[in-house]
Amino acid sequence: MASYDASLRVWRGDEDGGELKDYTVEVNDGEVVLDIIHRLQATQAGDLAVRWNCKAGKCGSCSAEINGRPRLMCMTRMSTFGEDETVTVTPLRTFPVMRDLVTDVSFNYTKAREIPSFTPPKDLQPGDYRMQQEDVNRSQEFRKCIECFLCQNTCHVVRDHEENKEAFAGPRYLMRQAELSMHPLDTLDRRDMAQDENGLGLCNITKCCTEVCPEHIKITDNALIPMKERVADRKYDPIVWLGNKLFRR
Ligand code: SF4
Ligand code: SF4
Ligand code: FES
Repeated sequence: MASYDASLRVWRGDEDGGELKDYTVEVNDGEVVLDIIHRLQATQAGDLAVRWNCKAGKCGSCSAEINGRPRLMCMTRMSTFGEDETVTVTPLRTFPVMRDLVTDVSFNYTKAREIPSFTPPKDLQPGDYRMQQEDVNRSQEFRKCIECFLCQNTCHVVRDHEENKEAFAGPRYLMRQAELSMHPLDTLDRRDMAQDENGLGLCNITKCCTEVCPEHIKITDNALIPMKERVADRKYDPIVWLGNKLFRR
């Protein structure tokens, strides 16, 4: 089996600051970045903090920035890089660092709690309603989300803009609003909520969130743009406009 020594640069530090440190670590055929981080931890940097769990791209824990690109460490093969290329691993930039490669992602949990859960009609009994396959298919894509928060980390609305975090739920949770809004049994009108409380208007559909999603969910095309269209339909629908004029006093 072929092996070589890779130049690895890893951010080490905590909330008070830190720096990039250089290491040389052995790489074997077929290994991913997380393997190399684990080897570094086992042989040279026993106190290196790194969050991971499944090593199969399914738990969403091992998100980091590799050569500046947000990715899952367990799904990034070392063969992506040249043998003489330095591989730089840094923590997610949008969330506060706790230590080394581990960030505090509680922003996302706060935003998740702000989205009202699925709200079916109160009198609906089990078995009363059968969903059409096309309605199932539409939300199926969104439910592949593994909550890795790479999209949340990448979106320029909050990346380097701490001041926008209060007003913006981020692509993952705007997608959740869209998913529930498309659900034929959900009784809440989520359009004003998404626009006014979750900051849908701040999204200018650059698709950067979509580009980094490891589940290849078309966040922008299939969730954010349709949600924007729903909001626009409501605002510019002449019947709705007339209704608002006549009945909103
Ligand atoms: S498409 Fe919208 S949510 Fe996605 S990265 Fe761009 S601004 Fe952010
Ligand atoms: S939508 Fe994709 S990038 Fe965003 S949290 Fe879910 S899996 Fe990760
Ligand atoms: S360790 Fe679970 S997604 Fe990477």
